[in-house]
Amino acid sequence: MLAYIYIMLTGKKILVGITGGIAAYKTPLLIRLLIKNGAEVKVAATKSALQFVTPTTLETLSKNKIYTDLFAETNEYNTEHVALKDWADFMIVAPATANCIGKLASGIADDALSTLLLAFNKPLFICPAMNTNMLEHFSVQRNIQWLKDNGIRFVEPASGQLACGVEGKGRMEEPENILDNVIASISQNNAFAGKRVLITAGPTYEKIDAVRFIGNFSTGKMGYALAMEFAQQGAEVVLVSGPTHLEINHPNVKKISVMSAREMYEAANEYYPTSNVAILSAAVADFRPETAAEQKIKKTSNSQTMDLHLVQNPDILASLGSKKRDDQILVGFALETNDELANAKKKLEKKNLDFIVLNSLQDAGAGFGHDTNKVTFVFKTGKIEQEPLKSKKAVAADIAKRVRDIL
Ligand SMILES: Cc1cc2nc3c(=O)[nH]c(=O)nc-3n(C[C@H](O)[C@H](O)[C@H](O)COP(=O)(O)O)c2cc1C
Repeated sequence: MLAYIYIMLTGKKILVGITGGIAAYKTPLLIRLLIKNGAEVKVAATKSALQFVTPTTLETLSKNKIYTDLFAETNEYNTEHVALKDWADFMIVAPATANCIGKLASGIADDALSTLLLAFNKPLFICPAMNTNMLEHFSVQRNIQWLKDNGIRFVEPASGQLACGVEGKGRMEEPENILDNVIASISQNNAFAGKRVLITAGPTYEKIDAVRFIGNFSTGKMGYALAMEFAQQGAEVVLVSGPTHLEINHPNVKKISVMSAREMYEAANEYYPTSNVAILSAAVADFRPETAAEQKIKKTSNSQTMDLHLVQNPDILASLGSKKRDDQILVGFALETNDELANAKKKLEKKNLDFIVLNSLQDAGAGFGHDTNKVTFVFKTGKIEQEPLKSKKAVAADIAKRVRDIL
């Protein structure tokens, strides 16, 4: 691993951000570790950070002037936050205070580091460190989740004795572990470089009239997590999304918003021929009302019941499966309530898939709306792999790994 780290870091330009947490005393060790392994380091520190660690230490270790004042006349460049962004390959903020995370999540740029962070559109690693109550505060949790959803990578804080005396989660990871995490993440960065990945996500809405539709409970979380994962690993992603509240913000992701199954069918068929991989995680309506009324359907005093005549929607997975070339990988999802494995195997064969990701509504924490999922992979080779309950992000990483193995 040590030689590998050296190879990965040699010649890399790394920005280290430091904010005002007690764990800032560990950051000089991180800087030394990065430099020892062949990287070049520049440091941006907040004013609070310099209460914990001195400019002399940071400048001596990094062999560069630190960046701390947005309006300093001695700045090497006029807009140093942009110049530093251009210079760096990636950035690590360690420790990251609740304040720094909150500012980044809210788009606030009121000092040198926060301005640099907003300008920074390259891989960014945040290493939070704070008291457990602060970490667990709903505002901080929301901010962290928002940043994660938008592709910012986190090196999770560890549990243990905190500087404030309490036991709990919130301790900044040790510099060696931060480095391991960063290396693991950047070595995956280009796994899908040059590959095009088509992903469908979310529910479909089938119109009944001007104001009503038939939908389902899918939130799109799994598909969006997949889009982010593949984008972070260098793929060019087309995300065809049904109506959801989710947003995605990554330069490698092109999002196509659709409403109905037929619109999703059109978009998926348009992008499939130029895709190397297609993963269909959307919950597509099998049926739609045969006609959608242009006006709102009114209730009348003598109508106690109402009949909706439904017709079948085109089958997106089957359609892509029938056109699948040998150089393409096609992955489906199956959400089953009974005879899960047998149904998944049938679907896998019928739709010509490479593998199917099966989740059962019988598993607590799996399926619609949850942030977690419990899946079983069923491959066309007959192999079956069962995974425990994991975050949807971790499941997305598992799926990407299986696709990588096949590629
Ligand atoms: C002794 C001391 C230790 C602190 N440790 C932390 C910490 O570990 N994490 C944190 O989020 N804030 C911590 N704070 C509070 C921050 O310093 C404060 O929120 C400050 O505004 C952060 O500024 P910055 O994000 O610009 O660096 C600490 C404050 C003091 C006085």
